[in-house]
Amino acid sequence: MLNRQGRPSAPQAHGVADPAAGMGDQAARLQGDASRAGADAGSHPTFTGNKALAQIEPLIFEIGRYDTTGVDLDEPDDFKPRLGGLERKEAIGLPGLSEPETMRHYVRLSQMNYGIDTGLFPLGSCTMKHNARLNERMARLPGFSDVHPLQPVSTVQGALELMNELGRYLLTLTNMTAVALSPKAGAHGELCGMMAIKAAIEAKGEGKTRNVVLVPDSAHGTNPATAALIGFVVKPVPARDDGYVYVEDVKKLLGPDVAAIMLTNPNTCGLFEPQVAEIAKAIHDAGAYFYCDGANFNAIVGKAKPGDLGVDAMHINLHKTFSTPHGGGGPGSGPVVLSERLSPFAPVPFVRAGKEGFELVEHETDAAEKPFGRMTAFHGQMGMYVRALSYMLSHGSDGMKQASEDAVLNANYIRAGLSDLMSLPFGNKPCMHEVLFDDAWLKDTGVTTLDIAKAMIDEGYHPMTMYFPLVVHGAMLIEPTESESKASLDLFIATLRDLAMAATTGNDKERFTGAPYHAPRRRLDETRAARSPVLKWTPPAPVAEAAE
Ligand SMILES: Cc1ncc(COP(=O)(O)O)c(C=O)c1O
Repeated sequence: MLNRQGRPSAPQAHGVADPAAGMGDQAARLQGDASRAGADAGSHPTFTGNKALAQIEPLIFEIGRYDTTGVDLDEPDDFKPRLGGLERKEAIGLPGLSEPETMRHYVRLSQMNYGIDTGLFPLGSCTMKHNARLNERMARLPGFSDVHPLQPVSTVQGALELMNELGRYLLTLTNMTAVALSPKAGAHGELCGMMAIKAAIEAKGEGKTRNVVLVPDSAHGTNPATAALIGFVVKPVPARDDGYVYVEDVKKLLGPDVAAIMLTNPNTCGLFEPQVAEIAKAIHDAGAYFYCDGANFNAIVGKAKPGDLGVDAMHINLHKTFSTPHGGGGPGSGPVVLSERLSPFAPVPFVRAGKEGFELVEHETDAAEKPFGRMTAFHGQMGMYVRALSYMLSHGSDGMKQASEDAVLNANYIRAGLSDLMSLPFGNKPCMHEVLFDDAWLKDTGVTTLDIAKAMIDEGYHPMTMYFPLVVHGAMLIEPTESESKASLDLFIATLRDLAMAATTGNDKERFTGAPYHAPRRRLDETRAARSPVLKWTPPAPVAEAAE
């Protein structure tokens, strides 16, 4: 018996005695898998579980065979093992597939993944913005994509110039003094900025006394984690009912033990902190530093400069603000900009324009300043640098400003389109680039934030960010980005209105509690998936012997 790809399906070496029996087993397993959408998704179930172009794809171990490879070269005649008897004696059990089978497997998997190129991706705090193909094209130019970090500096002058230029743009957009490009994500940038702050405090001889970092309740989890990781004691700044951080609350916590505040602006509730300048002044007056989490910089590029607000260190998620989407669209890049007070402590390596061209300052001893060390083995994410600069140059200063304005406009358009049905925890006031709803509107409906998210999957949308920030009950954080058209936003709003009305009228509760119905997988037990993840494939029990 052949499987749907026309070959015996069960790898003998996995102990399945009869390939045909194995196939029957696999087919039965596929068809009996209640978590598959095909299992109960209509009155015309298919044998394979596929629904036309919506294909079921087993694990590569389940479709592979040991006697097949995509490319197989004969051993040379004069081959002599040179491993002194240490060579492998048995097959290691990797699944073998022909080239078309391999292509199909990965293409099918990719089609099960929702991406920004598939549709609107409203994940708040993650900025899934369109990455223009131009930026992708530039990043793939061989002079950028094929360079090696250990190449002689004279052969990578163009790449270094690009890094230097990107740094210059970041400093101009933020009005800061120094930039460290190497951190590889937002959280890594936080670590870099906080290590510069720590180095500055130690240089002042206050390393032992200033050990507290203030972090508002609404902060991203990476903020307290970063501070704690490098030995600071984290003190929360309590949340207020309106979502803002107030200078009087900060002042109450200030003392000679405070090293810094880590404040996100715009904050994770999608609001611009109105007292940010006053907070910066209070922090500086107390001899501490202001770390700004700049992950949401995409809301204010060209509108406000962190340097003008009193920021000492801020990371910029290049992957959120300047092109590539966050997360699966990775990799990330989290350059850190530093104020004049902190610039001597920026880490190595950095690019410097020398007499003979651009130089890489690689060692602390080669820097005139006092770098705290290095964050990465090499120089950071070259591909991200290229995408970011390409984004900046293709937009220009007016275009970047407009992107921020459009991101804010789009979030407010969604707020206005849904505020009569869904509840806004801080009142119906303008937001920045993302709009935050809570679950008060779902009270007594028996439908939860999670149910709404799952029903959105059936509607063809990736869910919004759920249950973050933690200061809001049942949070639903929606960030449409500037990339979406009015038509796309209108359809999204209409879909959410339809879901909201169905949830509140209670007419079709199953639409929520059983969702998703149409995804390749039905709803999983998320607690079990998180606590007891099955990360290893185990060959099925030998069918023939089990039957005896
Ligand atoms: C407010 C905030 N801070 C920090 C981070 C961490 O950034 P990364 O995921 O690149 O480490 C994020 C990520 O989305 C964020 O939203």
